[in-house]
Amino acid sequence: MNRPTFEKVDSNFNFQDYNFDCGLEELNQFFYINAIDFIKQDYSQLYLSRMKETSEIIGFFTLSCTNICSDDKDLKSIEKIARYIPGLLLGMFEVDQKYQEKGVGTDLIKKAVQISLKTSMIVGCRCLIVDSKINERLINFYQKIGFEFVNISLGSDLLQNLKSKKTMKRDTIKLFLDLQKLRKTTDS
Ligand SMILES: CC(C)(COP(=O)(O)OP(=O)(O)OC[C@H]1O[C@@H](n2cnc3c(N)ncnc32)[C@H](O)[C@@H]1OP(=O)(O)O)[C@@H](O)C(=O)NCCC(=O)NCCS
Repeated sequence: MNRPTFEKVDSNFNFQDYNFDCGLEELNQFFYINAIDFIKQDYSQLYLSRMKETSEIIGFFTLSCTNICSDDKDLKSIEKIARYIPGLLLGMFEVDQKYQEKGVGTDLIKKAVQISLKTSMIVGCRCLIVDSKINERLINFYQKIGFEFVNISLGSDLLQNLKSKKTMKRDTIKLFLDLQKLRKTTDS
């Protein structure tokens, strides 16, 4: 695959001019219906990759500010000095079906982490948060990058349930990437 371009889109971007299908209707809806308002209202910044030759959109992600309540059971590895821990939210993360399993998602998430690391040097934000779909392979992927469960016991129960194929009430689980820890390892 040729090297795709990467850009942040602005509020003049016309999502309707493109065909994008990540395979999940509810997530496609964000692209066609909600994304433009999230950008216009400064709720999210949206970054996308396109094929150079055709301008076809192959994947995108959004970043927003968030915070996470520093409950004793959550984020155990982070020192708690305030009720809320500031972070960034990887809100949407989608790759077009035609381009899935070719490393596009990995490239995009690396970009999201780079932007988050830079942001954490300018604005106080300790972690990058993702609400992952309950899918063992996807959770492993986040963990390989360095994401950890926000609530460790909830996370290990979930993995156990997945292994024993038990049905679960929840359909997402929160993971976080400690940006300070990552900064320290990349600096050294
Ligand atoms: C998740 C997604 C963004 C990954 O994009 P991708 O370009 O296929 O990713 P890559 O080829 O770089 O592979 C990275 C990881 O994506 C996950 N992945 C890719 N295709 C997958 C599939 N069909 N089912 C489950 N996970 C998948 C895997 O965890 C993979 O890591 P692994 O190969 O180490 O197991 C893409 O599959 C997608 O858009 N899925 C639908 C939307 C979605 O689920 N978004 C995530 C919300 S938390």
